[in-house]
Amino acid sequence: MAGGSTVLVTGGAGYIGSHTVRALGAAGMDVVVLDSLEFGRREAVVDAPLVVGDVHDSALVEQVCRDHGVGSVIHFAAYKAVGESMEQPGRYWHNNVDGTVALVEAAMRAGASEFVFSSTCAVYGTPAEVPVAETSPIAPESVYAETKAMVERILGWYGTTHGLRSVSLRYFNAAGASFDGRIGEDWSMSLNLVPLVMRALLVPGPAIKVFGTDYPTPDGTCIRDYIHVEDLADAHVKAVAHLAGGGDNVQLNVGTGVGSSVFEVIAAAEKVAGRAVPKELTDRRPGDPVATFADPSTAESVLGWRAAHGLTEIVETAYRWHSSTV
Ligand SMILES: NC(=O)c1ccc[n+]([C@@H]2O[C@H](COP(=O)([O-])OP(=O)(O)OC[C@H]3O[C@@H](n4cnc5c(N)ncnc54)[C@H](O)[C@@H]3O)[C@@H](O)[C@H]2O)c1
Repeated sequence: MAGGSTVLVTGGAGYIGSHTVRALGAAGMDVVVLDSLEFGRREAVVDAPLVVGDVHDSALVEQVCRDHGVGSVIHFAAYKAVGESMEQPGRYWHNNVDGTVALVEAAMRAGASEFVFSSTCAVYGTPAEVPVAETSPIAPESVYAETKAMVERILGWYGTTHGLRSVSLRYFNAAGASFDGRIGEDWSMSLNLVPLVMRALLVPGPAIKVFGTDYPTPDGTCIRDYIHVEDLADAHVKAVAHLAGGGDNVQLNVGTGVGSSVFEVIAAAEKVAGRAVPKELTDRRPGDPVATFADPSTAESVLGWRAAHGLTEIVETAYRWHSSTV
């Protein structure tokens, strides 16, 4: 049975998912969200129906797909804490891998045939060279990253066995909040640098820890590629359109191509806030690659997508949103 034109967004009450739901709506697409609300927030789902449930619930997924005429799925729902994945790997195999298989099977039974998947630059592990291209070896260094690499391959096999067409988007470091100040990243649920810097700025409490200042980088701190969450959302809209237009299965980096150091992020935040971020300089943390940033040129040639925003907009939007929540 052929599906309709509605996009099912799993994990659409979470950080990146909620921004993507709004971008899909703005692009005129019909959307339905499925989220367990284990980490998401009901209020983050703006102008779209929310079904509260789990991707493992095959009967529910099938019903939602049939009721809403779902033709494509964007799959954000997963656990994402790298450290926790090493301590409780079973949780990650179950939610990120088994959950995806259950979702794909149920959605396909109901007629969906296109799938956009939240992958990660962590599938490259510590890259031998930067910028990292999609042709770099896949070498996960955590259970979390391995779940994402496995799902990419599983989707490839569903292409072979069932004709499922898919795009895996390998995100670099998602950051920032919506430009209208309505939604952003919940710092109580995040271990990422930007929300931690915002909390250190806005809430009395512990200083932000800078893990290592003796790396072989210009200022001694680690370098990452911070991608504005609305740019990331736009990449999903374009990935859905790519598949709807008959585009090929593909894995794509979604980053800016620009690396920023930890000190540069802190300095940008200090400039926006007009005051110093309390910080504590500590030793390196095991397992942190020195520098990773994307070669985003394949996403540009395949999807016609490139990042429109940089670090300044990331910290400005994050600061505005977090200030409104305290
Ligand atoms: N945030 C980043 O920088 C980043 C980078 C690379 C990849 N990713 C991936 O992007 C996706 C979204 O990340 P995020 O930062 O928005 O995370 P998030 O935790 O804010 O969102 C995930 C959402 O999925 C829901 N969820 C989890 N398991 C579920 C299940 N079994 N059934 C239904 N809902 C479930 C949670 O309630 C949450 O709302 C994840 O797959 C993550 O691994 C994130």
